Amino acid sequence: MSRPPSKARLALLGAALVAIAARGAQDKPGGTAPEAAKPAEEKPAAYVGSATCQTCHEDIFNAFQKNPHHLVETDKKYKHTTQACEACHGAGGKHADSMSAADITQPAKLTAAAADRICLSCHLSEATHVGRINGSHARNQVSCVSCHAIHKNGPDGLVARKPAEINRQCAACHSDVWASFLRPYKHKLPAGAMSCVDCHNPHGSALPHAMQTVDANEPGCFKCHGDKRGPFTYEHAPVRMEGCTACHQPHGSANPRMLTRAQVGFVCLECHANLAQRTPSASGTLGTIPPAIHDLRLPRFQNCTICHQKVHGSYVDRNFLK
Ligand code: HEC
Ligand code: HEC
Ligand code: HEC
Ligand code: HEC
Ligand code: HEC
Ligand code: HEC
Ligand code: HEC
Ligand code: HEC
Ligand code: HEC
Ligand code: HEC
Repeated sequence: MSRPPSKARLALLGAALVAIAARGAQDKPGGTAPEAAKPAEEKPAAYVGSATCQTCHEDIFNAFQKNPHHLVETDKKYKHTTQACEACHGAGGKHADSMSAADITQPAKLTAAAADRICLSCHLSEATHVGRINGSHARNQVSCVSCHAIHKNGPDGLVARKPAEINRQCAACHSDVWASFLRPYKHKLPAGAMSCVDCHNPHGSALPHAMQTVDANEPGCFKCHGDKRGPFTYEHAPVRMEGCTACHQPHGSANPRMLTRAQVGFVCLECHANLAQRTPSASGTLGTIPPAIHDLRLPRFQNCTICHQKVHGSYVDRNFLK
């Protein structure tokens, strides 16, 4: 059990709180703490307001009037009314005097983690089209500003929206992945009908490889292929346990249906190798020679899905025949 604090301790605590509050007022944008309270060389740069920035950065200031971030200028919620520029660039008093680049924060010159901290001061855990913003791409190697150019308009500007623009952005760094989408069997990314963010969340996710999720952390494939979700009476174990990539190449493939192997039979035999054993199984159905029903010497048995049509799971048949 903790001791109730004495009167003296309470008084001390009160004094400390007053001191912290005073400092807070000084740090706060637009704070009113007297400037003279600290020696000049320690004085933190003062906030001067966007109108001051305008005097030297007219073009950026003018363009900014149409930027979604202009809301920061007017909405108290963001704590930087009339100081939107300094919400991202930090207090600009010193820089406005010196005009030196050294005296102002330029997010593009910071480490990815430090730049992201600025953006996340407003955007942390915000729900977006592509999920919650939890942190930067691939654990801080790629910052927000690699994909979002604050002061640019157009497709390469603040946010890419059209699938083709998004794909171009991602492909610029992931050229190897893009190359897979040029194979014969793929989702229609090259046609601009779909984009990387249909499957991946550039802002991070709870699943490996930043996969998009639907509902309860299920892989984003189900957003469009809901018929593969089940729950099936008879599940095919790998669909749930290993996921779609046990049999499919999601980025495109040389094989029909984006399968991992050119022939369906080889996809299946990777796990069901016992079908190829010479002696029939106890059930009598396995093995390569009659009376086993799977006579793999016959071409028709190599195309397993002719009979096992419900290979993703079945509501009625434990062998996925229907
Ligand atoms: C009196 C003129 C003047 C004012 C006022 C001014 N700037 Fe600048 N700013 C400059 C000049 C000149 C440069 C170029 C410095 C250089 O390249 O060495 C610059 C550069 C910058 C840069 C780029 C720094 C870099 O590392 O590349 C940023 C960001 C910036 N200013 C933001 C601001 C903001 C925000 C304000 C308002 C708080 C502001 N400026 C007010 C003159 C000014
Ligand atoms: C939402 C954050 C944000 C706001 C608000 C913002 N900037 Fe920037 N600014 C950036 C980032 C990030 C960069 C780095 C380059 C880029 O992504 O465009 C930058 C770059 C700059 C540069 C350097 C441009 C160059 O070409 O080197 C200047 C100058 C500048 N900003 C001035 C301003 C002024 C003036 C305002 C207010 C009218 C402002 N910024 C508002 C984030 C912001
Ligand atoms: C001071 C708060 C604040 C900071 C800091 C901030 N933003 Fe924003 N951001 C906003 C507001 C407000 C909006 C507009 C939201 C709206 O329209 O509802 C916005 C919108 C956006 C949008 C969406 C634009 C659209 O068209 O939907 C992007 C992308 C974005 N910000 C990226 C960034 C990045 C990158 C940074 C860091 C360089 C950053 N923001 C820093 C407040 C902030
Ligand atoms: C790898 C590229 C990439 C990175 C890194 C990235 N984003 Fe995005 N962001 C996107 C794309 C692409 C979209 C648009 C997706 C869409 O609309 O379908 C987007 C959308 C947004 C939006 C608008 C959401 C909406 O629903 O309107 C905001 C806000 C945003 N990002 C903020 C951030 C912040 C903050 C960071 C850094 C923590 C960040 N982003 C990092 C690619 C990225
Ligand atoms: C500025 C370069 C850059 C851009 C742009 C970029 N990425 Fe990345 N991405 C990286 C780096 C670096 C990594 C981490 C190293 C790696 O895994 O290749 C990464 C990793 C990934 C990963 C793997 C994450 C994991 O945990 O395995 C995915 C998925 C991804 N990026 C998707 C995207 C998507 C989608 C876009 C477009 C919205 C995009 N990237 C844009 C550089 C970039
Ligand atoms: C149809 C869904 C889908 C689309 C569209 C998609 N991916 Fe993927 N991606 C996946 C899956 C699933 C994995 C995990 C692969 C695995 O587990 O072997 C993955 C893995 C990755 C990885 C990490 C492993 C690797 O292969 O390097 C990167 C990086 C990546 N994707 C980037 C991209 C980029 C960039 C785009 C757009 C050009 C894109 N993806 C489009 C589903 C997709
Ligand atoms: C945004 C919706 C969407 C998402 C997400 C999506 N797909 Fe698809 N998928 C489609 C569409 C549409 C087609 C039909 C493509 C066509 O006609 O070219 C398709 C076709 C396929 C095909 C069959 C191709 C063929 O030749 O018939 C496979 C296999 C496939 N998707 C697997 C996946 C996997 C695995 C994932 C998750 C990693 C996934 N898809 C995520 C929309 C999506
Ligand atoms: C055990 C291997 C296996 C797994 C795991 C698997 N598939 Fe398939 N999938 C196949 C085979 C084989 C075909 C081709 C069927 C045929 O030839 O008719 C196929 C075909 C498809 C098709 C196109 C034909 C159709 O039925 O619509 C889509 C779409 C598809 N799979 C999506 C998925 C998705 C999404 C997942 C993950 C939830 C997944 N698959 C997991 C083996 C698999
Ligand atoms: C990644 C491994 C893997 C792949 C690839 C795979 N399977 Fe399976 N399959 C399994 C597992 C594990 C079971 C469950 C076996 C059990 O319960 O004893 C199973 C069960 C089955 C069953 C039900 C029989 C039973 O004993 O319950 C059939 C039929 C079947 N698979 C057919 C196929 C066909 C056809 C393909 C190719 C399209 C295929 N499998 C690809 C792993 C795989
Ligand atoms: C001509 C139709 C047909 C083809 C082609 C076929 N199967 Fe079968 N398979 C069946 C039937 C029917 C059963 C159920 C036998 C029974 O009732 O015991 C079965 C059962 C199975 C079982 C479960 C066996 C057991 O005893 O548990 C597996 C695994 C299997 N098949 C895999 C495959 C694979 C892999 C291929 C492709 C190499 C394939 N099948 C091709 C008709 C076929």
